[in-house]
Amino acid sequence: MSGGAGALLATMGALGLAPSAEASAKGAFAPPQPTDFSLTGRSANRVVILGAGIAGLATAYELGKAGYDCTILEALDRVGGRNWTIRGGDRVLELNHSFQVAKFSDGIYFNAGPTRLAQWMVTMDYCRELGVDLEIFTNSNAQAYIYHQHVGAPVRWRTAKADMYGYVAELLSRATDAGALDAALTAQDKERLIAFLSSFGAVGNKASGFRYTGTPRRGYSVNPGAGDQPGTVLGPVPSLSEVLASGVGQWFEFEHGYEQAMLMFHPVGGMDMIPRAFAARIGPERILLRSKVTKITNLQDGVEVEYRDHYGTTRKISADLCVAAMPPHILAKTAHNLGAEVQAALATPTVVNAGKIGLEYNRRWWELDEDIYGGITATDLDLTQILYPSYGYGSARGLVVGYYNFDAQANAYAALTSPERERRAIEQGIKIHGAKYRDELATSVSVAWNLQPNIEGAWVSWPSRQGAYQLLNKPAGHVYFAGDWLSHMIAWQSGALESARKVVMGLHQRVMNAN
Ligand code: ALA
Repeated sequence: MSGGAGALLATMGALGLAPSAEASAKGAFAPPQPTDFSLTGRSANRVVILGAGIAGLATAYELGKAGYDCTILEALDRVGGRNWTIRGGDRVLELNHSFQVAKFSDGIYFNAGPTRLAQWMVTMDYCRELGVDLEIFTNSNAQAYIYHQHVGAPVRWRTAKADMYGYVAELLSRATDAGALDAALTAQDKERLIAFLSSFGAVGNKASGFRYTGTPRRGYSVNPGAGDQPGTVLGPVPSLSEVLASGVGQWFEFEHGYEQAMLMFHPVGGMDMIPRAFAARIGPERILLRSKVTKITNLQDGVEVEYRDHYGTTRKISADLCVAAMPPHILAKTAHNLGAEVQAALATPTVVNAGKIGLEYNRRWWELDEDIYGGITATDLDLTQILYPSYGYGSARGLVVGYYNFDAQANAYAALTSPERERRAIEQGIKIHGAKYRDELATSVSVAWNLQPNIEGAWVSWPSRQGAYQLLNKPAGHVYFAGDWLSHMIAWQSGALESARKVVMGLHQRVMNAN
């Protein structure tokens, strides 16, 4: 009977009716076990891990389960790498010697790096295992805006979508009905497509020419109320030509992407709850902070790593194996004897910059005045996007991310002093939210990732997944490489975690096969 049920489920899965295909979508991972050593008489190896970012921490955590003797060298005075949550009192030092001290209020935090987790990402599993509490991160919100300068006024996502979907439905219904698609559609297909478009775009029937004339989906200028108040639907409805010219449709893809579609999550209290939980499990004594790697030497029977400790003294650590979990462009600047091919590979990816500013406000005006509870406003301004907080709803104060931008826009802000960045972000944001955007600001902190010591970038991009990428996905002697940059999920913690797990399995296999 169970065979029959299994076969039935497999068939349903193939037909897309049962979740079996999704359930097996995650990469297999068999963590090393303590018994792997106790039962075979082998001894756990000494492993030195370079970098206490997510990949380095996960490597130490997983290897530690089986009793490997891990030491992590970390150049910064904190764990997490790009997973960095800034709170009141924290210092932000940049490579150009600029210096900010966060003056955020109690309970306010600013995730300067990773922001969100998708449900399918392995990061969710680690949060469960590590006891990191999660809450919903609102990545898309019908009530947030799309702002394009040439349009002049911000448009709510719901309004932009109602109009774009409405006109697309109208045009496609008319074309279908007129027979323009007869080569592709049967009579029954046409009927079904027109029925779908009717609900998709909220358009009129055939007698009305399938016309889109607006819908309550656009929102209301006066909300529905009690008694004889049905509300006033937002108008006037722009023409098809105006909607196309506004360019709002360019953003819709974001909501549908595999990585960005709702629901999304984030840890309660700040993204750094993840590295903190890892560090607590690994044992703080295994993590040497303010210890900057200066030289990696692959030896005949192991590895030796030189580092500068927090007193400025050069020290050496020997181990059987090494996992280099630093950014490739930082490794490329570190002395090593791994050969010219490895060096060229480390220098192959292009570094991408990103920047963010956290703006703390005295009053949650986005909730009180604009009914926005989380989500993102997309713009063609140099701030690119504004993120409203997905925590602390209804409390007194809150933190808005005033820009999250990339590449040229991020470089432009990085070139400014922190007061200038704040001024520029505010000047831009006022166009959307008005004078309160300036007048009610309490304090800000900005981060330019290209200027973060020992990180020097937001993430990287590969010209191809051949050659250099393949080479670094294999060990160089006793040195393994790990990080989001060696995964197909660059700029996601899940990429760092999957890469770490791959290295952990490969390394453990090698140790078990030795002797
Ligand atoms: N993973 C990064 C983000 O979601 C790029 O913004």
